Amino acid sequence: MNKTIKSPEDIDWEYFWEEKLKSQENTFKKDWNKEAPHFAKRVKQDEYMENLFNKMRIDSELTAIDLGCGEGSITIPLSKLVKNVTAVDSSEKMLEILEEKINKENIENITIINETIEDVSIEKVKKHDIVLASRSFNGIVPIIEAIKKINEIANKYVYITLFGPNNWKFERDFYKSIGKNNDHFAPYYYLFNILVSMGINPNVENLEIQKKRSYESVHDAMENGKWNLDSFNEDEKIKLRSYLKKNLIINEDGRLEHPDDKADWVLIWWKKE
Ligand SMILES: C[S@@+](CC[C@H](N)C(=O)[O-])C[C@H]1O[C@@H](n2cnc3c(N)ncnc32)[C@H](O)[C@@H]1O
Repeated sequence: MNKTIKSPEDIDWEYFWEEKLKSQENTFKKDWNKEAPHFAKRVKQDEYMENLFNKMRIDSELTAIDLGCGEGSITIPLSKLVKNVTAVDSSEKMLEILEEKINKENIENITIINETIEDVSIEKVKKHDIVLASRSFNGIVPIIEAIKKINEIANKYVYITLFGPNNWKFERDFYKSIGKNNDHFAPYYYLFNILVSMGINPNVENLEIQKKRSYESVHDAMENGKWNLDSFNEDEKIKLRSYLKKNLIINEDGRLEHPDDKADWVLIWWKKE
């Protein structure tokens, strides 16, 4: 990008969004098939879903599509509040777990599609009243093309959640202390600016999650915190153990926690004209 910037409108936010992702080392790319069995346990701890649903305009007459649905932490409760849900994800393992849950609960209004968000098309999925991409949009490229498509799929509302400024703060501080950078996702306001450049004026709200993650022990915090342990060498594992030992404090339930160790999500949403 060599263009001279004469006004804020000249900034190519899509370029910067994609540059950030390109800087992502392989070690920060998630293998969602591998994550699948542990994911539900990790996300169940806080008020994310409750706060998200409180901000969404949900109605039992509306149809929804859940892009990057994972193992259904949001899809299944959402299916009880709307007419039906199309659940899309690129991870077979996540979808296997979702299918098991659907069968166990005899849910009849969820359709599963194994597809990437980038490759979803209106011909394949048809239009839906609500488009939701919950915790699945931070890594999407090409971003403008994906937004055009999901905007076309939506009849009424589009909801996207992205990392907030304090998400991963506890992790970021550790990485900094060992000289590693884990800042490989574009901040939420890049997407805001991309949308504005496309003529979409979205609402931006923080989901204001208060509940901190908590652990039984330092071992539990290593195994079940948001650490990509496979990418750590032995020395880094030792440093992580001592970082956790030094920083985690005992809460009133006798579990270990840290004030910065909680999720921070921003909801970007708009109503179709
Ligand atoms: C953090 S989980 C979120 C799951 C669920 N939406 C929630 O909020 O609990 C991210 C999910 O998005 C899926 N995902 C990530 N990138 C994707 C893409 N480009 N296309 C389709 N699914 C994707 C992953 O497989 C994973 O299941």
